[in-house]
Amino acid sequence: MKINAEAKEMQARGEDVIDFSVGEPDFPTPQNIKDAGKRAIDLNQTRYTVNPGKLELRVAIARKLKDENGLEYPPNDIIVSTGAKQSLYNAVQSLVHDGDEVIFSSPYYVSYPEMVTLAHGKSVIIAATEETDFNFTPEQLRAAITPKSKVLILSYPANPTGSCFSRIELEKMAEIVEERKLFVICDDIYEHLIYDDNRFECFASVSGAVKERTVVVNGFSKTYSMTGWRIGYAAGPGEIIKAMNKIQSHSTSNASSISQAAAVEALNGPQDFVEAMRKEFELRRNFVYDKIKSIPGISCFKPKGAFYIFPNVKDYFGKSTSVFRIENSFDLAMYLLHEAKVAVVPGAAFGAEGYFRLSFSSSIDKLEEGIRRIRAALESLS
Ligand SMILES: Cc1ncc(COP(=O)(O)O)c(C=O)c1O
Repeated sequence: MKINAEAKEMQARGEDVIDFSVGEPDFPTPQNIKDAGKRAIDLNQTRYTVNPGKLELRVAIARKLKDENGLEYPPNDIIVSTGAKQSLYNAVQSLVHDGDEVIFSSPYYVSYPEMVTLAHGKSVIIAATEETDFNFTPEQLRAAITPKSKVLILSYPANPTGSCFSRIELEKMAEIVEERKLFVICDDIYEHLIYDDNRFECFASVSGAVKERTVVVNGFSKTYSMTGWRIGYAAGPGEIIKAMNKIQSHSTSNASSISQAAAVEALNGPQDFVEAMRKEFELRRNFVYDKIKSIPGISCFKPKGAFYIFPNVKDYFGKSTSVFRIENSFDLAMYLLHEAKVAVVPGAAFGAEGYFRLSFSSSIDKLEEGIRRIRAALESLS
């Protein structure tokens, strides 16, 4: 937040700051989806809808989950929320009570620990390292489980590393989940942004038994470039969705009626945009990975999905300018902001000191110029 605020201030002063800290696609929402939103306004679809979302949208979501993920849910076991984030929040609030332990791995999406704290739960964080491609192992999961363990949060392709579990890894995890009777919240928001021959498999699709213990969360923000429309959803066991619905009904009620109409079109309309955007992000991923890993002293995991890269910059800790010594990822991000005029997010924000997150949600030209500046700034340290 501090880096972001400072970057904005510098931009407001007219400085040429390249912002690689953003967490959203840089594409406009496809025209057919925008038109559906406009039509909803003209047709006066501007009132409350039922709390869990219009039936037409929940039917479209049920069809998507069946066709793309092999998962069958009745529309009553689906809830539409104000972004995937609200579904995640409602799921955590529904499942986690005083002292319950929630397991997830670092580097993590920044909101997970805060959501657990807001539910009076305790975060149990598994350190997933570069050596295991930022995935945690079954042994690490077993070691993290205690009698108080209640929920496992899974998220892949991951923010901030782009790591992704394979079907075999998920099957091993499913055995542990069943044996230890954990609930799972599976955050599938980057499902469609996946590269090379990696394939996305939803955790709930591994077996009928884990489906009964899993809340699947997904949304429209990343797949259809709809971050500002604030629309997402969850599907899962009826009792949990019912509890989530109660929380939503006394906090925000239904998601925007206009965004719901647009979301119906996103799911039922042409899907070419999704593949075109994925391809563009894959090109950028290749470009950024090659450029970053050629910087001396940096090692880097090649992201399997999402639109972030998470380089290891530990070699630069202890280096200095004439006035400033870099001790940690925050110092490094501040240095890059002021020296290179490039905004990145320090790894510490994701529970992983020694890294920064660079979002490749920018044009190739911007990426080239920004990485050139990062390289020059790092090379001038001694
Ligand atoms: C891992 C992850 N989950 C959930 C979200 C939130 O998505 P939404 O915009 O649908 O609330 C994000 C957004 O950055 C994310 O990175």
